[in-house]
Amino acid sequence: MTTTTLFAGEDGFSSMAPRAPLPVLPPLALYIHIPWCVRKCPYCDFNSHAASPVLPEEEYVDALLADLDIDLPAAYGRPLSSIFFGGGTPSLFSAKALGRLLEGVEQRIPFAPDIEITLEANPGTFEQEKFSAYRKLGINRLSIGIQSFQASKLQALGRIHNGDEAIRAADMARQAGFDNFNMDLMHGLPDQSLEEALDDLRQAIALKPTHLSWYQLTLEPNTVFWNQPPVLPEDDTLWDIQEAGQALLAEHGYAQYEVSAYAQPGKSARHNLNYWSFGDFIGIGAGAHGKLSHPDGRIVRTWKTRLPKDYLNPAKPYQAGEKLLPLDELPFEFLMNALRLTDGVDAQLYPQRTGLTLESLDEGRRLAEQKGLLQVEPSRLVATPQGQLFLNDLLQYFLI
Ligand SMILES: C[S@@+](CC[C@H](N)C(=O)[O-])C[C@H]1O[C@@H](n2cnc3c(N)ncnc32)[C@H](O)[C@@H]1O
Ligand code: SF4
Repeated sequence: MTTTTLFAGEDGFSSMAPRAPLPVLPPLALYIHIPWCVRKCPYCDFNSHAASPVLPEEEYVDALLADLDIDLPAAYGRPLSSIFFGGGTPSLFSAKALGRLLEGVEQRIPFAPDIEITLEANPGTFEQEKFSAYRKLGINRLSIGIQSFQASKLQALGRIHNGDEAIRAADMARQAGFDNFNMDLMHGLPDQSLEEALDDLRQAIALKPTHLSWYQLTLEPNTVFWNQPPVLPEDDTLWDIQEAGQALLAEHGYAQYEVSAYAQPGKSARHNLNYWSFGDFIGIGAGAHGKLSHPDGRIVRTWKTRLPKDYLNPAKPYQAGEKLLPLDELPFEFLMNALRLTDGVDAQLYPQRTGLTLESLDEGRRLAEQKGLLQVEPSRLVATPQGQLFLNDLLQYFLI
């Protein structure tokens, strides 16, 4: 589609084409996957598995550190700007196990002085003492999976906690010293009315989290909900919920900065921002994904062995696969992340992160601007509100 200059002296995309070295490597983050939950929620397609009464914590921490050792050369001396314990339910792990893990990580890669360390927590797993101990380990941000405060909705979602426990979780988090915490809420729940969805948001806002992730429930293949779909609200109701919810959040000082992410000033999730701005991240743990850039311009995606029993099997490798991103996929890869951000990104980030020239986007930009999907702003790459809504259509202009 395009013949614009990519690098000096090169005029076509080919996975075999020489790559321009990256002028600077992106910031480096670490994602750690903990693949167990008390039980599996019927809507969830994350790599999470119902836990047996005793978790193989020690064995898993050993495996995570050995897994990290393999990815270490790709750190190229960069400090970690953030760590994210995701799941699954990382709050099932003891502070002792997480402490040994964090210590092992820091022995291998230095932490940036202002590192953000987030842990995903389920309200059904909160104990004051454990959360105080997490805080003492240096974990400085929690992401609490609330989903809804309404008993009937929590039951329909197969959650292990009730609304009161969700409220108590916020109190406990604060008492444990977490002044920075996110709450995950979902909307468009089975039979949910506009008022019910707004009521969930109001209750969350009253607990004053610094960050709210507000997802519309989607039916995902290979889940119980996919096979036995519940009755979801009509499209008109979903639209009303979205509009009224966004207005309510804005009114209370939560600025939307990504499709589903809202934050108080200065409280955007650094880990996620790095991900959306095509930063690097090492992914360790069952099924974890990573993205790593090399100074010679190669950008590689990695994924780890998915099933916990296989990941823990010494006869199997930690890494299940990797893909060197071909040059012709880089525009799409970069933009599919960056254009999720409400304010987009500085256009100069594109050559910095991909090694390609900004001009290689010219034709796609022109066409997407004509369609009203991309803002006409030479120094930034930003979707219009229409473009955010129809991101897949917008990205088509950057497929080579
Ligand atoms: C990996 S889960 C981790 C949170 C934690 N395990 C919990 O559920 O309490 C991350 C979040 O993704 C959201 N999520 C999971 N499945 C979803 C779906 N099918 N549709 C929309 N959001 C979903 C939920 O809000 C959930 O809290
Ligand atoms: S607790 Fe969270 S990760 Fe686990 S099954 Fe439920 S939504 Fe998925």
